[in-house]
Amino acid sequence: MRVKTGVPGLDELLGGGLPRGSCTLLSGKCGTGKTILAMQYIVKGITDYGEPGVFVSFEREPEALCEDAKGFGWHLKLLENQKNLELMGDSLDRITSFGKKVGANGENMITEIVEVVREKEAERLALDGLAQFSAMFPNPLAFRSGLARMQRELGKLGCTSVWTSEVDEGKEGLGRLGVEEYVADGVIVLCYERGGLTRNRTLEVRKMRRTGHSNHLSFFEISEGGIRIVKPGENGPPKKRVQGE
Ligand SMILES: Nc1ncnc2c1ncn2[C@@H]1O[C@H](COP(=O)(O)OP(=O)(O)OP(=O)(O)O)[C@@H](O)[C@H]1O
Ligand SMILES: [Mg+2]
Repeated sequence: MRVKTGVPGLDELLGGGLPRGSCTLLSGKCGTGKTILAMQYIVKGITDYGEPGVFVSFEREPEALCEDAKGFGWHLKLLENQKNLELMGDSLDRITSFGKKVGANGENMITEIVEVVREKEAERLALDGLAQFSAMFPNPLAFRSGLARMQRELGKLGCTSVWTSEVDEGKEGLGRLGVEEYVADGVIVLCYERGGLTRNRTLEVRKMRRTGHSNHLSFFEISEGGIRIVKPGENGPPKKRVQGE
């Protein structure tokens, strides 16, 4: 069973969509489109496929997320009011200081997230900001085993998740701690690379357990409607000048 991503052209690269119950890392440097893709997955899941979703951010508060999403015509408040969407989150400093106050940690947070997914009967979950989330764990091994537990529990619930993970500029690797890409069932790498005077957005399915997938880079674009894959043979990626060049 496949879960449609809601990103035009992406399901074809994944052999039909994300395997149900799997978790996929969206990996990339800053500004590569991770948050937009994660949000599009949740919003389109609700509006196009009738699948309730939970969006957890470790960077932005729900009000700010709602404002960001409006730029793409996605009305998160409305989806929340219809009980199809649960927005959770805050900036990390506020999460951690609240966590300290109530004695909560990363493990409690996972329990809470899984509980919300269960209660809402959510079929989709997006977790935005794994690097920040990792700060709630005492060490990389604890983070890795926490992610593995979450993966297992979400899988049992049949909830299909995407987790965004930042890669630092100038660094190799698929996640900041070097553990998340091993736990995740799939990894999609987003890039915004310079070629001459322009930058091109590309996406690559780097890993996807239990399925064959595309083995080439695809151009994609971000516009008012969100993200879409540019088909081979379309007039190449949109050329945009990089400011300051
Ligand atoms: N309406 C739009 N039209 C075209 N491009 C847009 C639009 N809105 C945002 N973008 C592009 O998307 C980028 C931001 O994408 P997003 O926030 O998903 O990145 P990110 O990978 O989550 O970054 P970070 O790691 O900093 O959180 C912007 O820098 C801009 O280039
Ligand atoms: Mg982001």
